[in-house]
Amino acid sequence: MEVMQAIDVMQAVRDRRSIRKYRPDPIPQDALQQVLEAFRLAPSWENTQTWRLIVVRDPAIKDQLVGCLRPLASGRENPAVPALRSAPVALLACAQMGISGYYRRGEKAGQPATDRGDWAMFDLGIAMENLALAAHALGLGTVHAGLIDCARAGEIVRLPPDVKAFELVPLGYPDEAPSARPRKPAEEVVFYDQYGRTAP
Ligand SMILES: Cc1cc2nc3c(=O)[nH]c(=O)nc-3n(C[C@H](O)[C@H](O)[C@H](O)COP(=O)(O)O)c2cc1C
Repeated sequence: MEVMQAIDVMQAVRDRRSIRKYRPDPIPQDALQQVLEAFRLAPSWENTQTWRLIVVRDPAIKDQLVGCLRPLASGRENPAVPALRSAPVALLACAQMGISGYYRRGEKAGQPATDRGDWAMFDLGIAMENLALAAHALGLGTVHAGLIDCARAGEIVRLPPDVKAFELVPLGYPDEAPSARPRKPAEEVVFYDQYGRTAP
């Protein structure tokens, strides 16, 4: 935990970048374990913990997963392709469906508890950003890559039918230091009391 204490959460949130170029250096086992702990300790709907993570180190399987990245709408190659190719590890973020966001007991068991259906992807997003921030705190890089053929990725790692793949994330030591991408100003995305009402 020592390295995790070296930078605070806000600094990790501020300084994390999508990394698309990696050094081939292997990830020390204790660093990998900490990153995986950040995933495992995430909150989830009723603590259902439906997230699943496939840690891919086998270069042949990683290659097959790279083939699941879809091109951009422009036809350009997904910028995550070189990221996945250069990183020593690929993470396939998955979730068991039909549990998070559903009543689990009583006469409504199995029915969605909200009008938003399955919350598995929401829970998984939280866990994956936990992971990305922990990785950054340890000097490792990641990029969320959601533009993938999820069904094919699931087949490659032999997911059971109730578990679906959502995103691929390379993990490794960065070989680039990209500058921050712009964010919308707070007035555009944060409102007070009513939608559209910015701070007085
Ligand atoms: C859900 C999600 C899916 C994404 N999918 C891709 C992707 O398929 N390929 C890629 O290169 N980047 C992908 N990104 C990375 C975003 O482009 C990136 O986070 C954004 O441009 C902001 O840059 P930053 O992460 O460096 O702050 C994805 C990000 C998120 C959160």
